[in-house]
Amino acid sequence: MTERLTSLDRIHAACWQELEAATRTRGHGWRLLALASLAPPDHAGEPPVADVRTVVLREVQADARQLVIYTDSRSPKLAQIRSQPQVTAMCWSPALSWQLRLRARLTVDTDGLGVSSRWARLKMHPSAQDYLSPLPPGAALDTPAQQAPPAPDRGSREFFAVIFATVERIDWLELHAEGHRRAVFDDHGAGHWVTP
Ligand SMILES: Cc1cc2nc3c(=O)[nH]c(=O)nc-3n(C[C@H](O)[C@H](O)[C@H](O)COP(=O)(O)O)c2cc1C
Repeated sequence: MTERLTSLDRIHAACWQELEAATRTRGHGWRLLALASLAPPDHAGEPPVADVRTVVLREVQADARQLVIYTDSRSPKLAQIRSQPQVTAMCWSPALSWQLRLRARLTVDTDGLGVSSRWARLKMHPSAQDYLSPLPPGAALDTPAQQAPPAPDRGSREFFAVIFATVERIDWLELHAEGHRRAVFDDHGAGHWVTP
Protein backbone atom coordinates (compact mmCIF):
# COMPACT_ATOMS: atom_id res chain seq x y z
CA MET A 1 0.00 0.00 0.00
CA THR A 2 1.75 3.21 -1.17
CA GLU A 3 -1.06 5.78 -0.76
CA ARG A 4 -1.23 7.26 2.75
CA LEU A 5 -4.83 6.82 3.89
CA THR A 6 -6.41 9.78 5.62
CA SER A 7 -9.90 8.70 6.73
CA LEU A 8 -10.46 6.57 9.81
CA ASP A 9 -13.03 4.43 7.96
CA ARG A 10 -10.57 3.63 5.16
CA ILE A 11 -7.81 2.84 7.64
CA HIS A 12 -10.15 0.49 9.52
CA ALA A 13 -11.18 -1.25 6.28
CA ALA A 14 -7.53 -1.50 5.23
CA CYS A 15 -6.62 -3.15 8.54
CA TRP A 16 -9.10 -5.94 7.83
CA GLN A 17 -8.06 -6.23 4.17
CA GLU A 18 -4.43 -6.58 5.21
CA LEU A 19 -5.27 -9.15 7.88
CA GLU A 20 -7.09 -11.19 5.22
CA ALA A 21 -4.15 -10.77 2.82
CA ALA A 22 -1.76 -11.94 5.55
CA THR A 23 -3.45 -15.36 5.70
CA ARG A 24 -2.70 -15.89 1.99
CA THR A 25 0.69 -14.19 1.77
CA ARG A 26 3.83 -15.86 3.04
CA GLY A 27 6.15 -13.14 4.30
CA HIS A 28 3.34 -10.72 5.18
CA GLY A 29 4.29 -9.28 8.56
CA TRP A 30 0.81 -9.84 9.95
CA ARG A 31 0.85 -13.59 9.22
CA LEU A 32 2.55 -14.05 12.58
CA LEU A 33 0.81 -12.74 15.68
CA ALA A 34 2.29 -12.34 19.14
CA LEU A 35 -0.55 -13.69 21.26
CA ALA A 36 -0.43 -12.52 24.87
CA SER A 37 -2.44 -14.03 27.69
CA LEU A 38 -2.36 -14.24 31.46
CA ALA A 39 -0.50 -17.17 33.03
CA PRO A 40 -0.73 -18.42 36.60
CA PRO A 41 2.15 -17.19 38.79
CA ASP A 42 5.22 -19.36 39.49
CA HIS A 43 4.64 -18.98 43.23
CA ALA A 44 1.34 -19.26 45.08
CA GLY A 45 -0.05 -15.96 46.28
CA GLU A 46 1.56 -13.88 43.53
CA PRO A 47 -0.56 -12.21 40.80
CA PRO A 48 -0.85 -13.75 37.30
CA VAL A 49 1.96 -12.91 34.87
CA ALA A 50 1.86 -11.96 31.20
CA ASP A 51 2.70 -14.77 28.77
CA VAL A 52 3.24 -14.41 25.02
CA ARG A 53 3.95 -16.63 22.04
CA THR A 54 4.00 -16.53 18.22
CA VAL A 55 1.05 -18.03 16.33
CA VAL A 56 0.11 -18.16 12.64
CA LEU A 57 -2.95 -16.22 11.51
CA ARG A 58 -4.83 -18.90 9.55
CA GLU A 59 -8.15 -17.32 8.59
CA VAL A 60 -9.90 -13.98 8.85
CA GLN A 61 -13.64 -13.28 8.63
CA ALA A 62 -13.76 -9.50 8.51
CA ASP A 63 -17.60 -9.30 8.66
CA ALA A 64 -17.61 -11.23 11.93
CA ARG A 65 -14.44 -9.45 13.14
CA GLN A 66 -13.02 -12.93 13.63
CA LEU A 67 -9.51 -14.40 13.42
CA VAL A 68 -8.72 -18.12 13.43
CA ILE A 69 -5.60 -19.79 14.86
CA TYR A 70 -4.71 -23.48 15.00
CA THR A 71 -3.10 -25.07 18.02
CA ASP A 72 -2.44 -28.27 19.95
CA SER A 73 -5.34 -28.97 22.29
CA ARG A 74 -2.86 -29.80 25.09
CA SER A 75 -0.88 -26.56 24.89
CA PRO A 76 -0.69 -24.60 28.15
CA LYS A 77 -2.07 -21.48 26.50
CA LEU A 78 -5.52 -23.08 26.31
CA ALA A 79 -5.91 -23.29 30.10
CA GLN A 80 -4.85 -19.65 30.27
CA ILE A 81 -7.39 -18.67 27.62
CA ARG A 82 -10.19 -20.59 29.30
CA SER A 83 -9.54 -18.87 32.59
CA GLN A 84 -9.13 -15.39 31.01
CA PRO A 85 -10.54 -15.32 27.45
CA GLN A 86 -9.84 -11.62 26.88
CA VAL A 87 -6.35 -11.37 25.36
CA THR A 88 -4.16 -9.09 23.28
CA ALA A 89 -2.54 -10.00 19.96
CA MET A 90 0.09 -7.86 18.29
CA CYS A 91 1.62 -7.79 14.81
CA TRP A 92 3.96 -5.51 12.87
CA SER A 93 4.31 -5.14 9.12
CA PRO A 94 7.61 -3.58 7.99
CA ALA A 95 6.15 -3.20 4.47
CA LEU A 96 3.17 -1.18 5.73
CA SER A 97 5.00 0.31 8.72
CA TRP A 98 1.84 -0.57 10.63
CA GLN A 99 1.55 -2.15 14.05
CA LEU A 100 -1.77 -3.60 15.23
CA ARG A 101 -2.66 -4.32 18.80
CA LEU A 102 -5.85 -6.34 18.87
CA ARG A 103 -7.91 -6.80 22.00
CA ALA A 104 -9.90 -10.00 21.43
CA ARG A 105 -12.16 -12.48 23.16
CA LEU A 106 -11.20 -16.09 22.47
CA THR A 107 -13.08 -19.35 22.32
CA VAL A 108 -11.48 -22.75 21.74
CA ASP A 109 -13.05 -25.67 19.85
CA THR A 110 -11.56 -29.16 20.12
CA ASP A 111 -14.37 -30.96 18.31
CA GLY A 112 -17.36 -30.28 16.09
CA LEU A 113 -17.68 -29.52 12.39
CA GLY A 114 -15.46 -26.43 12.54
CA VAL A 115 -12.59 -28.58 13.81
CA SER A 116 -13.17 -31.68 11.70
CA SER A 117 -13.55 -29.76 8.43
CA ARG A 118 -10.32 -27.84 9.00
CA TRP A 119 -8.47 -31.00 10.07
CA ALA A 120 -9.66 -32.76 6.90
CA ARG A 121 -7.96 -30.02 4.85
CA LEU A 122 -4.83 -29.90 7.01
CA LYS A 123 -4.11 -33.55 7.71
CA MET A 124 -2.28 -34.37 4.46
CA HIS A 125 -0.08 -31.29 4.83
CA PRO A 126 3.36 -31.67 6.50
CA SER A 127 2.36 -29.13 9.15
CA ALA A 128 -0.25 -31.63 10.40
CA GLN A 129 2.68 -33.16 12.33
CA ASP A 130 2.47 -30.16 14.67
CA TYR A 131 -0.81 -31.55 16.03
CA LEU A 132 0.13 -35.23 16.11
CA SER A 133 3.01 -35.16 18.60
CA PRO A 134 2.57 -37.92 21.19
CA LEU A 135 4.03 -35.62 23.85
CA PRO A 136 2.20 -32.43 24.84
CA PRO A 137 3.84 -29.04 24.18
CA GLY A 138 6.11 -28.17 27.09
CA ALA A 139 6.63 -31.82 28.19
CA ALA A 140 10.12 -32.38 29.68
CA LEU A 141 12.66 -34.26 27.49
CA ASP A 142 15.97 -35.95 28.42
CA THR A 143 17.65 -34.70 25.23
CA PRO A 144 16.74 -31.91 22.78
CA ALA A 145 15.88 -34.31 19.95
CA GLN A 146 14.48 -37.14 22.04
CA GLN A 147 12.82 -39.76 19.86
CA ALA A 148 9.13 -39.64 20.59
CA PRO A 149 6.92 -42.73 20.48
CA PRO A 150 5.04 -43.20 17.18
CA ALA A 151 2.44 -40.55 16.45
CA PRO A 152 -1.22 -41.51 16.34
CA ASP A 153 -2.73 -42.32 12.98
CA ARG A 154 -3.16 -39.31 10.71
CA GLY A 155 -6.88 -39.91 10.70
CA SER A 156 -6.84 -38.86 14.34
CA ARG A 157 -7.31 -35.24 15.22
CA GLU A 158 -7.20 -35.64 18.94
CA PHE A 159 -4.62 -32.89 19.49
CA PHE A 160 -5.90 -30.40 16.92
CA ALA A 161 -7.78 -27.39 18.25
CA VAL A 162 -9.09 -24.19 16.71
CA ILE A 163 -8.94 -20.83 18.46
CA PHE A 164 -11.54 -18.25 17.37
CA ALA A 165 -10.73 -14.65 18.27
CA THR A 166 -13.43 -12.00 18.11
CA VAL A 167 -11.71 -8.62 17.84
CA GLU A 168 -13.16 -6.04 20.21
CA ARG A 169 -10.63 -3.24 19.83
CA ILE A 170 -7.99 -2.34 17.26
CA ASP A 171 -5.09 -0.07 18.15
CA TRP A 172 -3.44 0.94 14.85
CA LEU A 173 -0.03 2.65 14.76
CA GLU A 174 1.65 3.90 11.62
CA LEU A 175 5.30 4.93 11.66
CA HIS A 176 6.01 7.51 8.95
CA ALA A 177 8.79 9.96 8.13
CA GLU A 178 6.23 12.78 7.88
CA GLY A 179 4.77 12.02 11.30
CA HIS A 180 3.55 8.93 13.07
CA ARG A 181 -0.21 8.39 13.43
CA ARG A 182 -2.29 6.23 15.72
CA ALA A 183 -6.00 5.44 15.94
CA VAL A 184 -8.17 3.22 18.10
CA PHE A 185 -11.28 1.45 16.72
CA ASP A 186 -14.02 -0.04 18.88
CA ASP A 187 -15.97 -3.27 18.34
CA HIS A 188 -18.21 -1.52 15.76
CA GLY A 189 -15.26 -0.09 13.84
CA ALA A 190 -15.81 3.45 15.13
CA GLY A 191 -12.39 5.08 15.41
CA HIS A 192 -10.70 8.09 16.93
CA TRP A 193 -7.18 9.47 16.65
CA VAL A 194 -4.83 9.21 19.62
CA THR A 195 -1.30 10.40 20.27
CA PRO A 196 1.15 7.87 18.81
C1 LIG B 1 6.93 -18.81 13.58
C2 LIG B 1 6.15 -19.56 14.63
C3 LIG B 1 4.84 -19.89 14.38
C4 LIG B 1 4.10 -20.58 15.35
N1 LIG B 1 2.77 -20.87 15.10
C5 LIG B 1 2.05 -21.47 16.05
C6 LIG B 1 0.64 -21.69 15.86
O1 LIG B 1 0.05 -21.32 14.83
N2 LIG B 1 -0.05 -22.29 16.86
C7 LIG B 1 0.55 -22.67 18.03
O2 LIG B 1 -0.13 -23.20 18.90
N3 LIG B 1 1.87 -22.49 18.25
C8 LIG B 1 2.62 -21.89 17.30
N4 LIG B 1 3.96 -21.67 17.50
C9 LIG B 1 4.57 -22.16 18.77
C10 LIG B 1 4.21 -21.19 19.90
O3 LIG B 1 4.90 -19.97 19.73
C11 LIG B 1 4.49 -21.79 21.27
O4 LIG B 1 5.86 -22.09 21.40
C12 LIG B 1 3.68 -23.06 21.52
O5 LIG B 1 2.37 -22.92 20.97
C13 LIG B 1 3.54 -23.31 23.02
O6 LIG B 1 2.91 -22.21 23.60
P1 LIG B 1 2.21 -22.26 25.04
O7 LIG B 1 3.17 -22.98 25.94
O8 LIG B 1 2.03 -20.82 25.41
O9 LIG B 1 0.90 -22.98 24.88
C14 LIG B 1 4.70 -20.96 16.56
C15 LIG B 1 6.02 -20.59 16.81
C16 LIG B 1 6.74 -19.91 15.86
C17 LIG B 1 8.16 -19.53 16.16
